[in-house]
Amino acid sequence: MSTANQGSPETATQVQEMFGEIAKRYDFLNAVLSLGIDKTWRKDAVNAVSEKNPKTLLDVATGTADLAIELKKSNAHYKVIGVDFAEPMLAIGRKKAAKQNLDVRLEQGDGLNLAFPDASFDALTIAYGLRNFSNYQAGLNEFYRVLKPGGRLVILEFPPPPKGLFGQFFRFYFLNILPFLGGFISGKQKAYEYLPTSVLNFPSPDVLATMMKEAGFDKIRYKLQTFGVSAIHVGDKI
Ligand SMILES: C[S@@+](CC[C@H](N)C(=O)[O-])C[C@H]1O[C@@H](n2cnc3c(N)ncnc32)[C@H](O)[C@@H]1O
Repeated sequence: MSTANQGSPETATQVQEMFGEIAKRYDFLNAVLSLGIDKTWRKDAVNAVSEKNPKTLLDVATGTADLAIELKKSNAHYKVIGVDFAEPMLAIGRKKAAKQNLDVRLEQGDGLNLAFPDASFDALTIAYGLRNFSNYQAGLNEFYRVLKPGGRLVILEFPPPPKGLFGQFFRFYFLNILPFLGGFISGKQKAYEYLPTSVLNFPSPDVLATMMKEAGFDKIRYKLQTFGVSAIHVGDKI
């Protein structure tokens, strides 16, 4: 396995500060930069979770809680907890949940060292968070630890752009247009230069599937979303 799979080259503190700084503009920029398609990607994650009929759900790197909120909206009986280490992102998530009268618990915490006992959750989700971890494998191992036997892991992430014409176009958008637009709108150019770097460093879908297997997951499968811009990986703890 190449060293590129070790984790984000940024330190955890740098990543935490960066998301803290862009928190106020994060939702707006997400909608603009993904042209709103991110909603359909999260919907796939909600559907994959619902197949397991879970009671307790943990959304790691929950950010402004979009996926945690969608999970709760999909089934009022779900007990949903969201964890993120950037408090300003959580503060926005709490306001959004309160506005919709949704009981979603949002707590500050590190995805690499979750403050929950072994076998606590029926489902664990992470949307566009894993590529920011300083060690991807350690993150997957930690997710396995807190899942109950029979529990399900669902990962949404941006894989490195595929080969071919679309991949080339996407690489250009990602490396040139997106950092400019993101930097211009947020005023935080560095954060949006970091985004393509973190995506290009992230393992391919096949390698991520192998890493999930290494963590102990079974029945691993993945699907590319929107021509491979995003990918959903699903694995179960036996
Ligand atoms: C791109 S945002 C994704 C937020 C949200 N899941 C979404 O789909 O919009 C990445 C989030 O991961 C969080 N994050 C990165 N590394 C983390 C870690 N080790 N522990 C907890 N949160 C982390 C960041 O603070 C940020 O809020």
